[in-house]
Formats: sequence, C-alpha cells, structure tokens
Amino acid sequence: TGGGLSRRLLFTGTFAVATSALTEVATADRRSRPRGPARGTVLRARPATVSLGGRKVATWTYGGTVPGPIIRATAGGMVRARLVNDLPAETTVHWHGIRIDPRMDGAPGYTQAPTKPGRTFDYVFRVPDPGTYFYHSHVGMQNDRGLYGPLVVADPREPLGYDEEFVVLLDDWLDGIDGTPDDALRRLNASTEHDDTLRSDLLGGVTGEVRHPYHLVNGRMAEAPEVFASRPGRTVRFRVINAAADTAYRVALGGHRMTITHTDGFPCAPATVDTFLIGMGERYDFVTRLGAGAFPLVALAEGKQARAFAIVRTTPGARRPPRDVKVPELERRLLAYADLRPRRADALPRPGRTVTVTLGMRPSGNEWTLNDRLAADPLRVRVEKGETIRIVMDNQSPMWHPMHLHGHTFQLRAGERRGVRKDTVNIKPRERLSVDVECDNPGEWMFHCHNLYHQEQGMMGVLGYG
Ligand code: C2O
Ligand code: CU
Repeated sequence: TGGGLSRRLLFTGTFAVATSALTEVATADRRSRPRGPARGTVLRARPATVSLGGRKVATWTYGGTVPGPIIRATAGGMVRARLVNDLPAETTVHWHGIRIDPRMDGAPGYTQAPTKPGRTFDYVFRVPDPGTYFYHSHVGMQNDRGLYGPLVVADPREPLGYDEEFVVLLDDWLDGIDGTPDDALRRLNASTEHDDTLRSDLLGGVTGEVRHPYHLVNGRMAEAPEVFASRPGRTVRFRVINAAADTAYRVALGGHRMTITHTDGFPCAPATVDTFLIGMGERYDFVTRLGAGAFPLVALAEGKQARAFAIVRTTPGARRPPRDVKVPELERRLLAYADLRPRRADALPRPGRTVTVTLGMRPSGNEWTLNDRLAADPLRVRVEKGETIRIVMDNQSPMWHPMHLHGHTFQLRAGERRGVRKDTVNIKPRERLSVDVECDNPGEWMFHCHNLYHQEQGMMGVLGYG
C-alpha cells in the first residue's frame, strides 16, 4: 500500500501543486521532446507494461501509465497537448465534456482523421468552462485498454471552500485484448459469461455480465489500493470520473456523507447523500469533512459482484479499513437526477422544437440503434446556430444507456422544472428523459451511448450545423 501517497494532489491557495507521479512522467517526456507545443503536455500513446497494484499487465497507455497524466487548465485558458502515436494502430484524443473547437474533438471520421502510427497531432484549444473532465481515445475500444486520463479545469473565481482535492478515476479495465481496435468487441461477441444472481433492479432488472475482472481507482486494484492521505477535520473535494467501458458504479465513503457540488463539471445546489450512481462518462464532485482514521472509498460495480476500492486515511498508522462499506451507506438514499437542482438560475432559452430519439435494440441483441439507425448510416439531427432544441430520449430497449453529446452541455428537464447541466445522462430501460440543448457551437458532433460496446455496435448519431 502507500503507492498512492505520491499521487496526492495538494492545493495551496488558488493554484495546484501536483505531486503526481503521473505528472512527473509527463514532465520528463516533455524535456526529452523539445518539439512539444509550448507549455503543453506530451501524450505519447504507446504499449507498456504497467502495474495495476496486484498485477502487472501489458496494455496501451499515455506515457507508460494508467491513467495518463493529469492535465490541469484554467477556465478561459488554453490546453496544449501533443499526441505522439507510438501505437501499432491509428488513434485520437477526445476531450470529454469540453465545449471545444470541433477540429480538436478527436472524433474520427467526423471532424478529424485519426492519427496514424508514428505521427503526431497537436491539440490546442480553449476551455470555456471550469470543472471535472477526462480525455480518452475515441477509436474503437482503445479507451478500455487504459488510454484515458483526468482533465481538471480550475475556476479562478471560485472561492476554495475546501482544503484539498483528490481525483478518483474509476475503470473496469479489460484484460486479454491483443492490439487491434476492435479486439475487445470480438471478445464481447464470443462472451457467454452470465450470472443470474447479479441482477440490478436499479438498471431495470438487467443482469450484469462479468467480463471486466479488474475494477480500478486511479489504475490500482483493491489488492494494492490507491491511498488518499489527508488529516482529520479537513474538508476535501473528490472529483469522481467514470472512465469504464461497461460499468456503472455506486460510490460511497465509509463513515461519511457526501455533499454533491457538481455534475459533469457544472455546479449544482449542494445535495448531501450516502451514495450516488455514476454511469460511464459521468462525473460527480463531492465534498466531505474527514473524520479520524482510515476509511473505505468503495465503488460497487452495479449489477456485478465486483468493486473498485481505495483508502482515505487521515491518521498515519490507522488500520487498513475493510474493503466494504456498511449497507446503510450504500442504500439509505440513492441520488436521483430529480434531486439535483442547478446552483444558479442559468436557464437556457425556451426550446423552439422537440426532437425525439428512440433508443433501441435490434432482435439480434447486439445491434443498438438511435431511431432504428446504426452508426454506419447514422441518425442525423440538423440544427441552426442559435436555436435551442429539446431532445427527448425514449429508451425502448431492455438495457440502460449513458447518452453523451460532444461539444455541448445540456440542461435536464425534471417535469416542467429545469434540472442540472450535464453532458452525459443515464436512461434506464423504458424511461424517457428530456434535455435542452443550446446550439451555440457549430460542428458535426457525436451523440452516442458511452457504453463502449453499444457505441461500437451502432448506438451513434450526429448533431450537425454550421
Ligand atoms: Cu467520452 Cu464520444 O465520448
Ligand atoms: Cu447503451
């Protein structure tokens, strides 16, 4: 244990000092490559053998680590990152959740050709909004091999209502894939693993499939977990990111209640809960005042008999906590989107029209559709710059879907009330959910399920204008 200590992020005043081993790797990389963009990060995508704590694995990485280096920026400022592709395959970097210049969106076949092996691509873009984001490859299943990392955009005007912050990056890391972008998909199609005891009522009674044996917090398995070291009485902000391909997590911190302050980067009215569910592509920030001791930070893999686990320790020498949290902490009160309110009265203009998108499954069971179309001939929603549209997502499939729109944030509707701002939203089986989108960023934008298997099996559309 203790490997995570060196990855603690210390906040002093209004600027961050990252003591991250991951950041040091990036810095070393930068020194050896003077060609990198000025003051930027080098993301060298390359095969590497990494330790997940309990186990060494051969996989694909940014700079030799999983996750990749933490990238920090300031709202209104620039991000500069040079992708160096040392993989035996094409790749891109997508900046998930950022209202970005479409040429920098890393969406292959939409606005960017993927970067070939041996080539580089400079990502240079402004980040308009503060918040918790992440970056990942957008080619095939590459994200599932470890090609992801956190992107934290600081808000210079935000009064620091906390003493310290930690990034919690969740992943259902997949072993046994061999190098081509779609190998995981082949593996999925060959998979027959099923366990009828692992039913999730929350997800409409659908059974989880167990094909991701390694559930990670910051690249570490429960056997040798990440340790977040702090002090009793400190108020700590946790930035929780779900980079998994196929797993929602139910997150709880033993002995503590959590006050949710942000969803997908955007502030919400503080909501205090015992646990919350985070789907793939979602982010939640919470603050809590830490007690004395060592506490389990648990992310239960929804519908699966597995968990990701880390330790929050405020007393040096405190005994290692159990790898579980008490049942009440997981069940007393699960956060629903309707519980969340926007923090400010930042209402979008009234939508002029409604677009209904039906989320469906073809009878084959491995083709997922938007209005009965697959990605090869995708649903295209054409909009005008400046209009606001309402998208009603109507899930008529037997599975839940975390739907994500590139280049925008949308505002959830809770009946007639405005809900929170997000860019990724879970829709349960047979549920309908409405979001309002202000079309203020012309481009061709992916709109897809962030279950990577569903994405690769067709569940991808386009919002286009300009
Ligand atoms: Cu993380 Cu197309 O998304
Ligand atoms: Cu889906």
